[in-house]
Amino acid sequence: MASLLYTTLALMAFLSSSIVCSAFPEFSFGWGGGTGAGGGGDGSFGNGQGYPGLLPEFYDFSCPQANDIVMSVLEKVIAKEPRMAASILRLHFHDCFVQGCDASVLLDDNVMFASEKNSVPNSNSIRGFEVIDEIKAKLEEACPQTVSCADVLALAARGSTVLSGGPNWELPLGRRDATQASLSVSNNNLPPPNSTIQNLITLFRRQGLDVVDLVSLSGAHTIGMARCGAFKQRLYNQDGNDQPDSTLEITYSNGLKTVCPKNGGDNNISPLDFASPARFDNTYFKLIMFGKGLLTSDQVLLAGNVEETMFLVKAYAEDYSLFFDQFARSMVKMGNINPLTGYQGEVRKNCRMPN
Ligand code: HEM
Ligand SMILES: *[C@@H]1O[C@H](CO)[C@@H](O)[C@H](O)[C@H]1NC(C)=O
Repeated sequence: MASLLYTTLALMAFLSSSIVCSAFPEFSFGWGGGTGAGGGGDGSFGNGQGYPGLLPEFYDFSCPQANDIVMSVLEKVIAKEPRMAASILRLHFHDCFVQGCDASVLLDDNVMFASEKNSVPNSNSIRGFEVIDEIKAKLEEACPQTVSCADVLALAARGSTVLSGGPNWELPLGRRDATQASLSVSNNNLPPPNSTIQNLITLFRRQGLDVVDLVSLSGAHTIGMARCGAFKQRLYNQDGNDQPDSTLEITYSNGLKTVCPKNGGDNNISPLDFASPARFDNTYFKLIMFGKGLLTSDQVLLAGNVEETMFLVKAYAEDYSLFFDQFARSMVKMGNINPLTGYQGEVRKNCRMPN
């Protein structure tokens, strides 16, 4: 049965990939499942790798050019504005932490729900939606209603990492899109920049992510910018006693005050890794070693008195390849948070609204 399905699909793909692409999207997950240990062609969607329902080969027949399309748009956009790589990487994080990696973050306000775009962590901060729209429009042209917006985010996050000089990884695919967003979950699940180390550990654990994932994924702050409003507390009044954060190195702190005055300027931006803000490398961890992590949530990985995160910051600062390897692993793990698969959800035509 499985081999018949395989043969049929292979033949159809050979004849015309665009027909398979639009006409039988629901078949795409079926063919690879039977080969892996514990795999299910029986509706369990297991693939034996611990990523239920998701497979790197998911679009091999239905839209083999999917990743090339994602990369071609990213290359153009990131060449023009390097920061966009960071913004897009962050989009995937803010998607996955809120009801799973289901592209809920991309939904605009709707009569049925309030957009996550207006949550405290996202409002006036999260960006890159037009880039996702452009990728999705090109995918819809090549393979109508086949590649989900959630997978676009996962592919674009990986592509942005690679184009910034970071690691590559094999990416399980086959996520489907939510028909609902959740403003309240976005407010509750995304960690604030002034988080304590315990708060960070709790919020990551809620997603099935451990301290190794926490430290390695925080390394995404090797690229991109943050607004003054996200780190002002550290500069002027960290603990309610009108004193700066004692873990913040003083010359760095004084420099930050020039872009982030005590009153106003909340939308002025500063690099998360001032040494190489557009380069995905391990300087983020080196800077933390010198007291130059921008956000409280960055510096507490070292200063928070949790042995394991302190050890990992040092290890990643000393060995970029250790960081790259773990970042790739943790990105796959984050990308696997509670995906919709099979017949759950839908493949949105427009990432901003349910079909
Ligand atoms: C550990 C807890 C985390 C906290 C508290 C946090 C918080 C923040 C904050 C406050 C900003 C600046 C936003 C602004 O001021 O507009 C930011 C930016 C960013 N975050 Fe995180 N983040 C965390 C984890 C992550 C993770 C896991 C990723 C991705 C894997 C990530 C990727 C990014 C990127 C790339 C930027 C720069 C975005 C840009 O330049 O547009 N962050 N983060
Ligand atoms: C973080 O900032 C929020 C909003 O400004 C504030 O209410 C909260 O007390 C701060 N938390 C810590 C741990 O400083």
